[in-house]
Amino acid sequence: MKLELDDGIATITISRPKALNALNSAVLDELDSAITQVGENRAARALIITGEGNKAFVAGADIGEMVNLTPDEAVAFSRRGQAVFSAIERLPIPTIAAVNGYALGGGCELALGCDIRIASENARFGQPEVGLGIIPGFGGTVRLPLAIGRSRAAYMILTGRQISAKEAYAMGLVAEIMPSESLLSRAEELARELGAKSYVAVAYAKRILFPDDEALAREARRFGQCFETGHPKEGMSAFLERRPPKFSD
Ligand code: CAA
Repeated sequence: MKLELDDGIATITISRPKALNALNSAVLDELDSAITQVGENRAARALIITGEGNKAFVAGADIGEMVNLTPDEAVAFSRRGQAVFSAIERLPIPTIAAVNGYALGGGCELALGCDIRIASENARFGQPEVGLGIIPGFGGTVRLPLAIGRSRAAYMILTGRQISAKEAYAMGLVAEIMPSESLLSRAEELARELGAKSYVAVAYAKRILFPDDEALAREARRFGQCFETGHPKEGMSAFLERRPPKFSD
């Protein structure tokens, strides 16, 4: 994880390239502390979140870490991710996800925790959880319908399909598409533009847009309930063993 502050623009780069920047507990902790530092720094007027490299923004929550969770541990894992993304959402300054490749599962949910998403031409979005025997657990069931409407969210969550940057743009999930090489400079330009607005007005406008806490709690409970069955173990073992899952009763 890298946190930089340059001329009022904070940039967090998620960096775990060998696992396509997947979010394990250590990365979530680092992200949490980076967000706290940004929140405490009065000089930061806007935040950009991106992923290291050009293949992935974040390829989701860490599947190897989730495969053996008990139902209670699963609820706690979901609440942990939700809390970090809510902390991003609750920053008073504008936040921009610069999505440079795969934004799947928790990666798509991280992008949804930001106010605005811009994407590189090779970005891919998706909520593939149902194929792993689980549901989105880092706020996706709540923020995705708020972002693109229930019908499109149901399509993404129930099919688990990956969509291209162009499809994401057509759905309203991303605001702009850029060639990979200009994504960060465009994010910085946008951050500068938003950072120059009244920070009081921006902070109040953001607060009205916060999602319902009770809906997030419901998501975490349902995420945990998946782990009362054998489906998460089968779905995630299948991913790790590079075979298709076979879900039975
Ligand atoms: N967790 C853990 N490891 C992951 C990962 C993840 N989410 N995504 C990728 N990796 C690892 C792979 O296991 C692989 O590691 P090894 O080299 O040690 O085998 C490495 O990253 C590179 O990945 P691939 O070899 O699979 O790369 P690819 O180019 O063939 O495929 C991909 C890329 C399509 C993104 C594929 O990696 C993939 O489908 N990843 C999983 C995506 C996913 O299902 N994400 C959702 C997770 S569930 C979630 O996020 C729940 C929640 O809401 C809390």
